[in-house]
Amino acid sequence: MDKEPIIKLEHVTVRYRGSNKDALADFNLELNPGEFVCVLGKSGAGKSTMIRCLNGLHMPTGGRVYFLGEEITKFNEPALRKVRTNMGMIFQHFNLIPRLSVMQNVLTGTFGKRNDWKNLIGYFSKVEKEEALRAISSVELTDHQYKRVEHLSGGQKQRVAIARALLQKPKVFLGDEPVASLDPGTANRIFNLIQRIHKKHELVTLINVHDVTLAKRYATRVLALKDGKLIYDGSPDGVSEEWLSRIYDE
Ligand SMILES: Nc1ncnc2c1ncn2[C@@H]1O[C@H](COP(=O)(O)OP(=O)(O)O)[C@@H](O)[C@H]1O
Ligand SMILES: [Mg+2]
Repeated sequence: MDKEPIIKLEHVTVRYRGSNKDALADFNLELNPGEFVCVLGKSGAGKSTMIRCLNGLHMPTGGRVYFLGEEITKFNEPALRKVRTNMGMIFQHFNLIPRLSVMQNVLTGTFGKRNDWKNLIGYFSKVEKEEALRAISSVELTDHQYKRVEHLSGGQKQRVAIARALLQKPKVFLGDEPVASLDPGTANRIFNLIQRIHKKHELVTLINVHDVTLAKRYATRVLALKDGKLIYDGSPDGVSEEWLSRIYDE
């Protein structure tokens, strides 16, 4: 039993209210320790829906989701929040607080694991501040720690978001199109950083990405979704021209 999946989706179906088709259809997936997974698929294929099911942000219409062997589709909202603290997440539009500093934004990564009253009064312990400094240093933003996030470049903002996710001490690292707003060079540097963090912290990493070159360069496993179904699950090298036209053409 050395390879129990970290996350498992079993026959997961998602049908949004008012829609006449499934956003995910009888979807099965196991994510295992050490994997760096890149997810390809056209807009509307179901990539974001899949991520929201993995981390308990969206309750599927049918099927079961397991995290470390526990069925989280049975959990209530407080228990789901706890599950989500194990999953660091970054987004296309960074989801930072622009008027706050790098340090303040990174410290909000502790919120899921703290008492509500501490969050309310913005109290952070010395240990939390030291951890935030280490996270900021690991994304190479030490010189910018007091700067307001609104004054940073896109790549720097995404590095702040990565540092914030690290402060959760996650087991799983999720990215929903995290480099879609960045230029190719910056996107590559962000993927490089994610890869280093993935290895150092022994995370399971899953990133939705438009850029096939990045997926091939960094992934240990590639998934492709189409119309809510998994149509490719295998090695990056196997993603041929033929597969790409199957994934992206009508
Ligand atoms: N909140 C929502 N309400 C209704 N339909 C949605 C919602 N979110 C996504 N959808 C639909 O579900 C399908 C999958 O969407 P999504 O998971 O966002 O795909 P992707 O991330 O691959 O672009 C699409 O048809 C989309 O229009
Ligand atoms: Mg999406």
